[in-house]
Amino acid sequence: MKWLYVEELRNHIGEEVELRGWVWNMRSSGKIHFVQFRDGTGFVQVVVEESSVDPKVFESASKLRIESSVIIRGKVIEDKRSPYGVEIHASDVTPIQIPDEPYPISKKDHGIDFLMSYRHLWLRSRRQFHILKIRNAILTAIRQFYKARNFTLIDTPIFTGAIGETAGNLFELDYFDYGKVYLTQTGQLYLEAACMAFGKVYNLGPTFRAEKSKTRRHLIEFWMHEAEVAYYEHEDNLKLQEELVSYIVKYVLEHAKDNLLALGRDISKLEKVEPPFERITYDEAIELLQKNGLNVQWGDDFGGDEETIIASNFEKPVFVTHYPRKVKAFYMQPDPKRPEVVRCADLLAPEGYGEIIGGSQRIHDYQLLLERLEEFNLPKEKYQWYLDLRKWGSVPHSGFGLGIERTVAWICGLEHIREAIPFARTLYRIYP
Ligand code: 4AD
Ligand code: MG
Repeated sequence: MKWLYVEELRNHIGEEVELRGWVWNMRSSGKIHFVQFRDGTGFVQVVVEESSVDPKVFESASKLRIESSVIIRGKVIEDKRSPYGVEIHASDVTPIQIPDEPYPISKKDHGIDFLMSYRHLWLRSRRQFHILKIRNAILTAIRQFYKARNFTLIDTPIFTGAIGETAGNLFELDYFDYGKVYLTQTGQLYLEAACMAFGKVYNLGPTFRAEKSKTRRHLIEFWMHEAEVAYYEHEDNLKLQEELVSYIVKYVLEHAKDNLLALGRDISKLEKVEPPFERITYDEAIELLQKNGLNVQWGDDFGGDEETIIASNFEKPVFVTHYPRKVKAFYMQPDPKRPEVVRCADLLAPEGYGEIIGGSQRIHDYQLLLERLEEFNLPKEKYQWYLDLRKWGSVPHSGFGLGIERTVAWICGLEHIREAIPFARTLYRIYP
């Protein structure tokens, strides 16, 4: 008999098949067991009827509990009410393991701390299934986007000898005789080296920030996708970003629509996401915030509240450009007409999800970069390799970093970023 996955069943109506998976719920009426079955690709109802199976089979099915593992054989019957269009009428039930204890995650409302402590089991629930399937689609979309544009994937290191972004939230470690090194905050500096070798490059990997703030947008370990392109200036950079984000949303709508609907996501909001995105300057953003009654002054950085208010004025993601250089990282290219602001942009997601991308044009002049390193008190010797890039064949170049979990949270419509990653690392949690 053929072993099939739930996602394949629709094309096998009327056939006898084998399914291997788990019981996520169960209900019995004495003569019929309704087994809610899952196998990692989907969920389906299995009906075990006393009158139509061997008594031993019915007896085996009676022993099943929540999260028993089980192999089921049966006939695929069309069922229009099911999201997969089918249910299974069982002929054979083989339990693989039957738990001795009741499953800790029951239907009653558990607090979030409880659920996070059982994250290793919580992953099996339907909501988490749909979220992480969408995450999977987002990561696939990113890879496809760059494949179609012939970018080269460059895997940047996790251990770094120099600060990549900001001194405020670094994880320090001892590295043999070398002394202090850091867990990477960004692969950007290495992508800058790589873009001078490969022209257009990207990465996708974990990054680390010792964020002391406990917000619904911050993780300690999060995944970032970054891109860097030689000869790209500010406006080229924004175009690439709006095309990428629109591609991701479109891909998810095409390939994971059922998952979005299962989460109750309002899809009409996502369908509006296509280029071009509006651009407003930091100056305009300040004005907009002041009009909304916020007490912000030119020179202040924006936090979650400011970002939410700005974004609420737009239906699509919006770029905020040209921040004061004092609130941004050392490597950003000053605007030639106004050196107190830099050629950068944050992309703010709609519906209160805040910044999903940070990017900029980079300083390509050796002397100016050297001045910035001094201004930021960064040790020149640790950055000699980075300065070298400005000594040989330096060109204007630009890039950006997209936070994967923030993007997942926005596309799924999650309240908190901790559900957007399989095993979240937050200020107070590293278990499981
Ligand atoms: O804006 P950030 O700090 O930019 C950089 O690191 C640049 N070096 C990227 C580049 O130009 N190559 O971080 C980029 C994105 C943010 O927009 C946000 O989406 C996400 O990374 N991010 C976080 N996500 C979750 N938890 C945190 N603590 C995050 N910090 C940043
Ligand atoms: Mg940022």
